[in-house]
Amino acid sequence: MMKRLLPFVLLAGAISPFACAAPSALPLDDRQALIEALLERMTLEEKIGQLRLISIGGDMPRERIVEEIAAGRIGATFNSVTRADNRLMQEAALRSRLGIPIFFAYDVIHGHRTIFPISLALASSWDLEAIALSGRVSAIEASADGLDLTFAPMVDITRDPRWGRTSEGFGEDPYLVSQIAGTLVRAYQGQRLSAADSVMASVKHFALYGAVEGGRDYNVVDMSPQRMHQGYLPPYRAAVEAGAGGVMVALNTVNGVPASANRWLLRDLLRDEWGFRGLNISDHGAIDELLRHGVAEDGRSAARLAIEAGIDLSMHDSLYLQELPGLVASGEVPMALIDQAAGRVLAAKYDLGLFHDPYLRIGKATDDPAEVNAESRLHREAARRVARDSLVLLENRQRTLPLRKDARVALVGPLADSHVDMLGSWSAAGVAEQTVTLRQGLEQAVGDGGRIIHARGANVTDDAQMIEYLNFLNWDRPEVIQDPRPAREMIDEAVRAAREADVVVAAVGEARGMSHESSSRTSLALPASQQALLEALVATGKPLVVVLMNGRPLQLGWIKEHADAVLETWFAGTEGGHAIADVLYGVHNPSGKLPISFPRSVGQIPIYYNHPRLGRPYVEGRPGNYTSQYFEEPNGALYPFGYGLSYTEFELSKPRLSQRKLNRGQPLEVSVTVENSGTRTGATVVQLYLQDLVGSSVRPVKELKRFEKVMLAPGEARVVRFVLVEDDLKFHDVRLDYVAEPGEFEVQLGLDSQAVLSERFELL
Ligand code: BGC
Repeated sequence: MMKRLLPFVLLAGAISPFACAAPSALPLDDRQALIEALLERMTLEEKIGQLRLISIGGDMPRERIVEEIAAGRIGATFNSVTRADNRLMQEAALRSRLGIPIFFAYDVIHGHRTIFPISLALASSWDLEAIALSGRVSAIEASADGLDLTFAPMVDITRDPRWGRTSEGFGEDPYLVSQIAGTLVRAYQGQRLSAADSVMASVKHFALYGAVEGGRDYNVVDMSPQRMHQGYLPPYRAAVEAGAGGVMVALNTVNGVPASANRWLLRDLLRDEWGFRGLNISDHGAIDELLRHGVAEDGRSAARLAIEAGIDLSMHDSLYLQELPGLVASGEVPMALIDQAAGRVLAAKYDLGLFHDPYLRIGKATDDPAEVNAESRLHREAARRVARDSLVLLENRQRTLPLRKDARVALVGPLADSHVDMLGSWSAAGVAEQTVTLRQGLEQAVGDGGRIIHARGANVTDDAQMIEYLNFLNWDRPEVIQDPRPAREMIDEAVRAAREADVVVAAVGEARGMSHESSSRTSLALPASQQALLEALVATGKPLVVVLMNGRPLQLGWIKEHADAVLETWFAGTEGGHAIADVLYGVHNPSGKLPISFPRSVGQIPIYYNHPRLGRPYVEGRPGNYTSQYFEEPNGALYPFGYGLSYTEFELSKPRLSQRKLNRGQPLEVSVTVENSGTRTGATVVQLYLQDLVGSSVRPVKELKRFEKVMLAPGEARVVRFVLVEDDLKFHDVRLDYVAEPGEFEVQLGLDSQAVLSERFELL
């Protein structure tokens, strides 16, 4: 086969000296040979340049970045989101001695220009097709802006809603999150990673970041290997198995060793055991942080620890550039390690198709969009569809919902007309003004005939310290803007609106910055300003619909008791207002289910449904001494994992098993009939949990193993069949062997994790 020339030499218009020297020696169609050929020709400085991922808009001025790229001292950048910007940098890369293209990364977490609901909300849909749609649209939009790689999916399991990044992950369950992890990797990366509309996924934050002690961000993680393998590692592995090109390493320690310096984690587990061949990326400034962790005495040893542990690409790098040359010169770091890391960066570029066409996702200047935020670039229909799916109906007394279109609605609350909060955290290139607020959604839904009486009612918070924090977080544009009126005056206005109305819709919860990186909370209560508003509204006696907007489970005991209906809407994205209006008016029947337990109080944390069994378990309805409980309140969650209501009712039959005794290797079919016994078409999620009744180590009370979302017309019934295989019965025993032990198992079927019907079988 004829060897092709590196086309970027031609495209760039500037022949690189290296290419002139030996163009025919570049085997462009053979990945490994090309990487080896390049490594052979690269200087140490150029190799180290490949290991540097530099932030646009960070400390380094843009002109300097362009110069550094042209000098071959930067391998990739992140945070630039237009083709024009990226083209300038790619041109600089092609002017470098070897003309090696760079790639462009960004945090595309739940949408790019079109913002989908936050990840926790996506998980609430339990709809892998909807989640895939959000990922595919994100990839299409991001790649159309010249981006090659996203720092997603973020699959950190958390059992602690105090953690601000709870919003960014998919909840508490390893099975559900693993399914989502694989789905999103495939959606981002498309059929071929080298396609113009694919972006590389880099799963994060490896590993266990969601288990930071006390839910305090960046805090330590200390965990038994069994718990790790059983409860926290599966989603990362699922992403790797789905072919994720990258892994971003966590900022926390893992059993005493920071993840960024953790050879066991990054080499033994990730590479040797799981077979990961892609790119390891450190988190922002993580290598420098090894000094503050106190595992490196200086920058030199931090750089050495990181490269030895297996960090290929150093985000926001300073130390690799400064220290690796000296470390290699002294022989402390072998050249082979540098080659390995640089080779992986080159391989990622190869897989992304950049050696064949460095402008694959950047295109020609003449094709650049005239307006990057043009309405025509958005995918509103997809965003609305996915957002509707992600809403969870928590309460609906006396069928308060859906609302009648002719009802007079008092719409109150600080989030009712907020554009920026609709975006949620990590909103990529989303534009606040392009979101549909709840007020806009309701007004459009009712048209001229209806009456929406709007009154803000309260600020998100009146706590000056909190406001300062939230606005500091978004220093480029303060986004928590106070209504200057006294709280009493605002509440009075809302109460007047309520009195004029048939029903009150109160949009309350968190400003988006309250559920974000570093935004850990000690309280899950509504801020006092909003609580006071709700109390005044309840006192009017008008039916109260609480529309929650928040990025983590909140403490909802009071709301559960006093509101007539409660809809959890998280932060619903660009089309949030339309999607919520669709559900409030019954155009769409809600079908979301919680992907995380809602505690009654902070004191119950960590709370999670798949708890190991205990010697003195608390028995519901049988309070007493010497059982595992808090004596002030019941043990269970206020709203359990998997819970969510519908406007219709569903009945589930007892599960039927294909056999009671199972030989190893034999599949087990579990079938169940689900019927829509209500009067509206609707969807629900049939959930299958498994309990291993006796194990060589203590087994959880249940674990999710399968689920299926089913849409049924009124009166319609369907048989849902699940097939379990031996792997589903396995766990990591005390020796960390992955085994299915003989004995009895219980299959539990339900529409949430608690109200289940069960049957048993025996593994022989
Ligand atoms: C976060 C990462 C993110 C990175 C780049 C860090 O602070 O922990 O999740 O990808 O910044 O924006």
